[in-house]
Amino acid sequence: MRIALLGPPGSGKGTQAQRICEAFGLVHLASGDILRAVKASGSPLGQKLREFIDNGLLVPDDFMVELMRQNILGLSRGFVLDGFPRTLPQARALSRMLFENDRPLMLVLNFVVDPEALARRFAGRRVCPVCQAVYHVDSQPPRVAGICDKEGAKLIIRDDDRPEVVQKRIVTFQQTMAPIVAYYTQLGNFKTIDASATIDDVTKIVLDKIRRHFE
Ligand code: AP5
Ligand code: MG
Repeated sequence: MRIALLGPPGSGKGTQAQRICEAFGLVHLASGDILRAVKASGSPLGQKLREFIDNGLLVPDDFMVELMRQNILGLSRGFVLDGFPRTLPQARALSRMLFENDRPLMLVLNFVVDPEALARRFAGRRVCPVCQAVYHVDSQPPRVAGICDKEGAKLIIRDDDRPEVVQKRIVTFQQTMAPIVAYYTQLGNFKTIDASATIDDVTKIVLDKIRRHFE
């Protein structure tokens, strides 16, 4: 299976991608996680990326496509893309690279969430700085408050979850997503998911759509 998840910041792409991968034995490729790992390295490239990510701006397409190509093309298993593609040039470049390898994308799921629910999700998100696991103080709490279940590390708030940056990320999303939705709608294999329900209910909807699609 080769699946891509689209949707606004905070819509639950990372949370559901992890569950999809567990259910079907797929690899989770989250563009934001990959970028944050480079950023955290403190290298000159990481410093450069910080200027984009921490200000809610998209990283340039050429760099992003090459970074994802390096992560995608070596894979022998199926995968779930989370956060990529995010612009029409990225979507086209992804189609080309997968087509050249005879492994086209099989399903695109577009997460739609009402804005009030999104705001609550941002306000309570906490992440593990070591393994990047995602939690929420109310809807997805760790076993011990403030501590990652897997790593035992102290959970942090993402640098780009400050309210003014969140606002910028949502505007960026609104400005770039329509052409991608049109592109995948035209190609087919495009399904919309109402991702406003609880995490477990969204998982049921998502897994059901995937099973039906691949039946
Ligand atoms: P990225 O890391 O991809 O961020 P994003 O797309 O803005 O999405 P988020 O990770 O914020 O949200 P999510 O949908 O994964 O939701 P989550 O599962 O965490 O990108 C960050 C930055 O990197 C970009 O701004 C850009 O600078 C750069 N970048 C990345 N990809 C790029 C690209 N392709 N091109 C250019 N630049 C790129 O859930 C959110 C919270 O809600 C969590 O706390 C979770 O526990 C909770 N939650 C989840 N689902 C539910 C539910 N159903 N009910 C209640 N709570 C829920
Ligand atoms: Mg995410």
